Amino acid sequence: MSSVQIREQAYIDGAWTTPSTQKTYQIVNPATGEVLANVADCSADDATLAVEAAHRAFGPWSKKTAKERSVILKKWFDLIMEHQAELARMMTMECGKPINESMGEVVYGASFVEWFAEEAKRVYGDIIPPPKGDRKVMAIKQPIGVSTAITPWNFPLAMITRKCAPALAAGCTAVVKPAEATPLTALALAELGAKAGLPKGVFNVVTASHGKDVGAVLTQHPLVKKVSFTGSTPVGKQLLKQAADTVKKSSMELGGNAPFIVFDDADIDAAISGAIASKYRNTGQTCVCVNRFLVQDGIYDQFAKALADRVSKMTIGNGLEESTEQGPLINQAAINKVTELVDDATSSGANVLTGGPRSDIGSLFYAPTVLTNVTDKMRVFNEEIFGPVAPLFRFKTEEDAIRMANDTPFGLAAYFYTQDMGRIWRVAESLEYGMVGINEGIISTEVAPFGGVKESGLGREGSKYGIDEYVEIKYLCLGGLD
Ligand code: SIN
Repeated sequence: MSSVQIREQAYIDGAWTTPSTQKTYQIVNPATGEVLANVADCSADDATLAVEAAHRAFGPWSKKTAKERSVILKKWFDLIMEHQAELARMMTMECGKPINESMGEVVYGASFVEWFAEEAKRVYGDIIPPPKGDRKVMAIKQPIGVSTAITPWNFPLAMITRKCAPALAAGCTAVVKPAEATPLTALALAELGAKAGLPKGVFNVVTASHGKDVGAVLTQHPLVKKVSFTGSTPVGKQLLKQAADTVKKSSMELGGNAPFIVFDDADIDAAISGAIASKYRNTGQTCVCVNRFLVQDGIYDQFAKALADRVSKMTIGNGLEESTEQGPLINQAAINKVTELVDDATSSGANVLTGGPRSDIGSLFYAPTVLTNVTDKMRVFNEEIFGPVAPLFRFKTEEDAIRMANDTPFGLAAYFYTQDMGRIWRVAESLEYGMVGINEGIISTEVAPFGGVKESGLGREGSKYGIDEYVEIKYLCLGGLD
């Protein structure tokens, strides 16, 4: 088995491509500051070439049978899994994710390719009972066309496959702009896709140090028919505005402010395990990480102590070390944001039970932290932390918990722990969120619909619904059938 190389050129129309600007930019390991590669710094012109290539490839790719596309996607899945260890290492080096989590992300990312390879064959239409006897009424589903994916650094592989596997399965072609910080995994995916047999132009990767110009092409070019973005809500709103001019179908997986409610009747051990898994996954840098712990009065002190005990034992370090549970944050801006939020809370009376900055390991490390005595007047109640800080808010009644949980413009993921069956249904139905974990802290899987409500986004990824984002429904009325 040949190894996956570090690629530095963009991948456009089936070729490794030097950008028109001839410029490159550095990819830096956040754990060590080491320069990993000098990657193509593409411009709007390069993005346009990629869109045009994807457009040319669309006709032949969409005309393949679903089975033919499925076979190629399955090969891509196999190759990703064969290269699991190398991809995981590359991912850890470019984003700092602990290696065990990176190994898990490769499996998670590959699962979307496998799932949609299977779903490709199940894009069914409908035969609809007609209103008159002389006609047949049908609805067919057709691939929408060139799809673009603007993806984040926190899941360098899985967010690409979660968008592009359904696109390719449906018969669309794709242009990806990976996050500035994490293009290496994306380029490796392109290499494996080519080996799997993806024809030229079907999957393109355009790398750039400042995504604005490339992003403008991917959201505004008339040949692009679908835009999918994962990232912050402000950027998502801007991309939606850009896509509006040509009325492109859009999916947005945006920011969250996930509540994690612990009721007095919860199984506390299970709640602590769920809390650790959800809050500290990828060092607190996922959109579905807990942002606010809402803990009922009667169990608050016990929960706070047990959580702080577990958190204080977590191993912090370079993600390449097997023992590392918490890696670095992605950049200085992330450290600044976390520091500001913790300072804001402590200056208004919050207590640090464990944690705080850890600059002795490296400038981008922040120790996993637990804050008590936190109130809804502090910034951590409203703002996405995106770091390893667990603020614990206190509540008295179920109604209070639901009100506090829903008191946010965001609505991605929510979690709650209780053993009361009536409460399970009441709370699950009352939470204004796209996804709810009930006595469970990790809910992401290729078989379930991932996505948010309110300002957390539009559309669903994964599951049987994920492919709908890449098809148009066409109504056919066949008349004159006397
Ligand atoms: C994200 O943070 O954007 C994705 C998290 C997941 O898929 O679990």
